[in-house]
Amino acid sequence: MCGIIGISSNKPVSANIINSLKKLEYRGYDSAGIATLSNGEINEVKSEGRVDNLENNFDLKNLKGNIGIGHVRWATHGIPNSVNAHPHSSHNVSVVHNGIIENSTILKKYLINNGHIFKSQTDTEVIVHLITENLKTSELEEAITKTLKQLHGSFALGIVFKDKPDLIIGARRGSPLAVGYGPNENYLGSDSYALKSMTNKITYLDDGEFCVVKKDQVLFFNEQGIKVNKKILELSSNEASYDKGDYKHFMAKEIEEQPTTIKTGIKEYIDNFNKEINIINFPWEIEEIKSITLIGCGTAYHSCLMAKYWLEELTTLDVNIDIASEFRYRKNRFKKDNLYVFVSQSGETADTYAALDLCNKNSMKTCAVVNVIESSIARDSNFVLPIHCGPEIGVASTKAFLGQILVLYILVLKLGFLRNEISKSKYQKKIEDLKTLPVLIEKTLQHDNDIQAISSTFNDAKGSMFLGRGFSYPIALEGALKLKELSYVHAEGYPAGEMKHGPLALIEEGIPVVVLAPRDNYYKKTISNMQEVIARGAKVLLITNKSTDEVVSENIWETIEVENTNDDLLPFLLTIPLQKLAYYSALKKGYDIDKPRNLAKSVTVE
Ligand code: G6P
Repeated sequence: MCGIIGISSNKPVSANIINSLKKLEYRGYDSAGIATLSNGEINEVKSEGRVDNLENNFDLKNLKGNIGIGHVRWATHGIPNSVNAHPHSSHNVSVVHNGIIENSTILKKYLINNGHIFKSQTDTEVIVHLITENLKTSELEEAITKTLKQLHGSFALGIVFKDKPDLIIGARRGSPLAVGYGPNENYLGSDSYALKSMTNKITYLDDGEFCVVKKDQVLFFNEQGIKVNKKILELSSNEASYDKGDYKHFMAKEIEEQPTTIKTGIKEYIDNFNKEINIINFPWEIEEIKSITLIGCGTAYHSCLMAKYWLEELTTLDVNIDIASEFRYRKNRFKKDNLYVFVSQSGETADTYAALDLCNKNSMKTCAVVNVIESSIARDSNFVLPIHCGPEIGVASTKAFLGQILVLYILVLKLGFLRNEISKSKYQKKIEDLKTLPVLIEKTLQHDNDIQAISSTFNDAKGSMFLGRGFSYPIALEGALKLKELSYVHAEGYPAGEMKHGPLALIEEGIPVVVLAPRDNYYKKTISNMQEVIARGAKVLLITNKSTDEVVSENIWETIEVENTNDDLLPFLLTIPLQKLAYYSALKKGYDIDKPRNLAKSVTVE
């Protein structure tokens, strides 16, 4: 996954390209580069690392050209250095690419035999040479159609040509691409976020399409090279939410925003007057759904697991969950009466999209739980349940996780009620309880100094474990993932009852273990498991909820008590200290919290 931008204008474009690249850095930050056209020349500048490096290394203000393309990279083929950075150029063509060209080795051999000399180790460079080769015998549009047919794999491309100083070609297969419309200029970008400071008028390319972007005109073509008309969408713009404000990091801001995330979600989905859940235009009869499969990656997968526990507790629906990269290649037994739910913050994750596409091709019922409502997953699902949490910029997901589990919980309640498995009084009580959640989260957020103090222990240890049972198990997995992502220390999430079947061997004197043991149905069992690790020398951080009953156990290292609420809602509160623990550990280590090494926010390659 990478971010791409292209601008065709009547004025110099480098400053706007840089601004957009900074916004696109959530898609990759291994290297950055720009190519502009001026006086019949391609001016290419690239640097390893962040966009800031590119700005420091080159005098970009004086980079001439009213047309240009830019790129931020998340390395797939070839190490992250300035040679492998995009754009890649031949004497007459320059290309930026997001995706993977699967037949690049074969194409490279063919091109080398035809005299092309390669400079980088990337798969992208074959595209440059292939276009150059095809231009020897074909006119531009034909050369592009021919090239796209020769490429296997996924791509979003931005291409400029030395002798065409007025146009950029964009092409999409698999990886997302949008066109934006501005005054005397038009744009190409990986997503609307990259274009938002310049325009809110957007068209998304569909799979297989390509476009010709000039400063005063945009044309779209399908795979066969036939012109197609496309709709222009007007997006609501809210630049303010892309700002860190007074926070040191987006992650800190996003953690603190969670009461608002939940408040907004509740406002969108709960009809206060009728004590009812507003999920309208549900496109199927409730009797048509006999089972549910929830699919996602990373944190979104943990949301799916959370929903499984709620669905099994509150309904009799059969529930499966799957990691998208596994689901897409398994021999799935597609069932007409199964609802497939795709959970994704970005709505662009390649594996999740591929799983959705597979379901669509098999005419399944598909529903998206996404944050970005203009995303590919939202656009291609039968039904969308937005998370409404606003842009999440920190690579490690925080408020989107809470937003996802909120929407999934609301969906579970609605399904249970419609299936007569939750009585009206129980349903309305649960809705009332839900409304108290923003305040409870706010109070839980006040645990701060205590978590800061605890966090060093996790940094100094060679590993740590996060244990939970039942509703707390998905949260244990999420807590361990957050710590790994941000602090680069080994952390493992485990069902507390499963420890004795292997991982207990890892417990030794002083190893930090987080035990999630709220006073729910699993409490006593989890406390027993906690005692087993304490007996073997673990330093236990117990996270439970407030209660008048004291925890009956000796030698607990630290305890954090979250607020009290019904069992269903405790997972929301247990998540908060774990997010802060990961944040403060990374802060103490001086790591890049919003952009952890090797990761990206939107993973648009498989
Ligand atoms: C990346 C991010 C994770 C995220 C996962 C799924 O790995 O770093 O934070 O959970 O992608 O992303 P999605 O946008 O589909 O929720």
